[in-house]
Amino acid sequence: MSSPDGPRPPAGAQAPATPSASGGPARPARTAVVIPAAGRGVRLGPGAPKALRTLSGTPMLIHAVRAMAASRAVSLVVVVAPPDGAHEVKNLLDTHALPERTDYVVVPGGMTRQESVRLGLGALPEDVTTVLVHDAARPLVPVETVDAVIEAVRGGAPAVVPAVPLADTVKEVEPSAVPGDPEPVLATPVRARLRAVQTPQGFDRDTLMRAHATVTLDGEGATDDAGMVERLGEPVVVVPGHEEAFKVTRPLDLVLAEAVLARRRANDGF
Ligand code: C5P
Repeated sequence: MSSPDGPRPPAGAQAPATPSASGGPARPARTAVVIPAAGRGVRLGPGAPKALRTLSGTPMLIHAVRAMAASRAVSLVVVVAPPDGAHEVKNLLDTHALPERTDYVVVPGGMTRQESVRLGLGALPEDVTTVLVHDAARPLVPVETVDAVIEAVRGGAPAVVPAVPLADTVKEVEPSAVPGDPEPVLATPVRARLRAVQTPQGFDRDTLMRAHATVTLDGEGATDDAGMVERLGEPVVVVPGHEEAFKVTRPLDLVLAEAVLARRRANDGF
């Protein structure tokens, strides 16, 4: 990691060599992205796994991979595929145009997002020092957001999260057992202090590996890698996210994503 005080390379540039923690010879800093794409996406309704559904004729996963590879700092993308769909995902990557400077690896995922990310981390080569984790379900994140996260990690932050202020006021409730039943309100957090977090989240590699090796959570596991780093007691910082980095979760999100792509085509012939 470069010194917070020293000159910072732009995220698009080749990163400097990083002194090893053991004081040994410096190792070159390399940035990789893990894309968990093994979810079924049940909230979108019946059909193919969410990452394989198309937006303007192109699978959401390919949009997400291109969004990451758009950063010149990213030299490797690890895609975590549905356990029974690794072959299909490998074919997709082989048949869609992707930047030549970026390598791709496909690994089968697990039962939870946390397990899928851990399996993706297992595929990282030794020389990777900065790791981004990006949801395939956020296919339209702009490259400026990706670069801002990488720059903050290279600047010395062990964990970096892009996030946006909330439009809605948020209530904490006592969830009812029966969907639709009235739910008692427990608290109203001050909206100005809240942020909705997005991906890619960026990490110093050793910090994220330690989080995945030591933090265990019941049920669906961690929905957010930065939350696991918080449990280690390590600092996590937020940088500005982007409205186009929204997560495609429900059918209306597909309409919004198509509208964003149409606007990009109209603006720059994309
Ligand atoms: O379900 P949710 O929208 O929170 O999933 C976030 C991301 O995690 C998606 O890109 C999804 O494909 C991925 N995921 C995964 N393995 C799972 C569950 C979700 O890679 N078992």
